[in-house]
Amino acid sequence: MSITTFPDGGRSAAAPTSQLTTKVTMPALTGMKRQAKPITALTAYDYATSRLVDEAGIDMILVGDSLAMVVLGHDNTLAVTVDEMLHHTRAVRRAVRRALVVADMPFGSYHGSLSGAVANAVRFVKEAGAEAVKIEGPRVELVRALTAAEIPVVGHLGLTPQSVNRMGGYRVQAKTAEAALQLRAGAQALAEAGAGAIVLEGVPREVAALITADLEIPTIGIGAGPECDGQILVLHDILNITFAHHAKFVRQYADVSAVIREAVEQYREDVEHRVFPSDEESYHLPAAVRDAVETAEVAGIRPV
Ligand code: KIV
Repeated sequence: MSITTFPDGGRSAAAPTSQLTTKVTMPALTGMKRQAKPITALTAYDYATSRLVDEAGIDMILVGDSLAMVVLGHDNTLAVTVDEMLHHTRAVRRAVRRALVVADMPFGSYHGSLSGAVANAVRFVKEAGAEAVKIEGPRVELVRALTAAEIPVVGHLGLTPQSVNRMGGYRVQAKTAEAALQLRAGAQALAEAGAGAIVLEGVPREVAALITADLEIPTIGIGAGPECDGQILVLHDILNITFAHHAKFVRQYADVSAVIREAVEQYREDVEHRVFPSDEESYHLPAAVRDAVETAEVAGIRPV
């Protein structure tokens, strides 16, 4: 067996085979950019959905700190901890065979000393099996330190949700010439420091297109237009399970809220009307055992 392929034993029959079994690595993403092959990326945070996303052939799975909002119900991403992110990254790791697994470093875990940040990043690789970490902002020194520590890094520029308090809300960034040039410089500096890819979030299409042309490493856009080398969205947004207003850049591909609501309501009604479980959904005693059980005296039998 090649070390770049995996057996599909136990995987669903719908799981694709052939070229979709080749493991995606960080250098492979740059290879895709060179071949002008769009990179597909989604967030996922648990075993079941990560497995489905991986089997559907998505190239990169980000265990995003957006889980603070869409899984844990916080108002923003700031509260989620390293231990919570590790817990979810481990679940994703157990599910994923092919996609590159990237863990988001949460707010506070890389904002102090470089050594503290590297130590936290090492935990994502060692304890959770992440193949890269993502950090927000033009933190060039940190990208250099992580790269020196053999930890692949995905940068994240533009609308960086961990800066919500500084930005005063979630706003499209780099709308002036000065801000756009600063963003270009930041992206170039991250690439020179060793970043393997850069997520561009909430920036004008034109700015993302320029940065994408500037860099040899891929850009992965979210609300950054179609010229980026790849696209990422939050899984819960495309499935409509966020209970929130969707940003302009979100395309909803399914209404899983409606599917779950209908299924759960049907189950409740079936239980309330004693339609579930049916006789076929029940286990049965053989007739002889049933007779013995029904006619025997319970008194005097020791409970197990
Ligand atoms: O946490 C997240 O979901 C992200 C995005 C890039 C999708 O950082």
